[in-house]
Amino acid sequence: MEFLRLVLVFLHLLGMAVLVAMLLLQRRTAPGGPLNKGWLHGSLLQLVTGLALVGIAEMGEPPVNHAKVGVKLVVLLVILGLVAVNVRKEKFAGWLVPTLAALVVLNTGVAVFWV
Ligand code: HEM
Repeated sequence: MEFLRLVLVFLHLLGMAVLVAMLLLQRRTAPGGPLNKGWLHGSLLQLVTGLALVGIAEMGEPPVNHAKVGVKLVVLLVILGLVAVNVRKEKFAGWLVPTLAALVVLNTGVAVFWV
């Protein structure tokens, strides 16, 4: 079970790296649109691995911090919603990519600083 948890943490961190890479790629290759599909893949990977990690944590000790996980889930669902609405558009609003980046940074901060 511990090995599975480590694999999931590994994938979860790679998913975060995908989202940071999308920010840099988007600014270089397609600043005005369309939105790179990697945003969708990275955020879906975070959702699946994050929920699986919660499932594993529920089986062990210490108890899961449900408030923290809930905040991370809501932030991720906002990211996913914004990406899903914009991923098929030719062009997107100028605030979209900075907002997505801020939400990814917010979730990273919640993960690290909220113990
Ligand atoms: C943009 C979205 C997300 C980012 C950037 C992110 C980032 C991170 C980071 C950096 C860690 C490692 C923290 C540490 O070990 O101190 C982590 C761990 C974790 N994340 Fe996320 N996360 C995201 C979404 C989610 C979601 C949606 C969930 C669940 C609903 C979730 C659940 C967890 C759990 C349970 C851990 C603890 C893993 C462990 O050490 O066993 N994450 N996350």
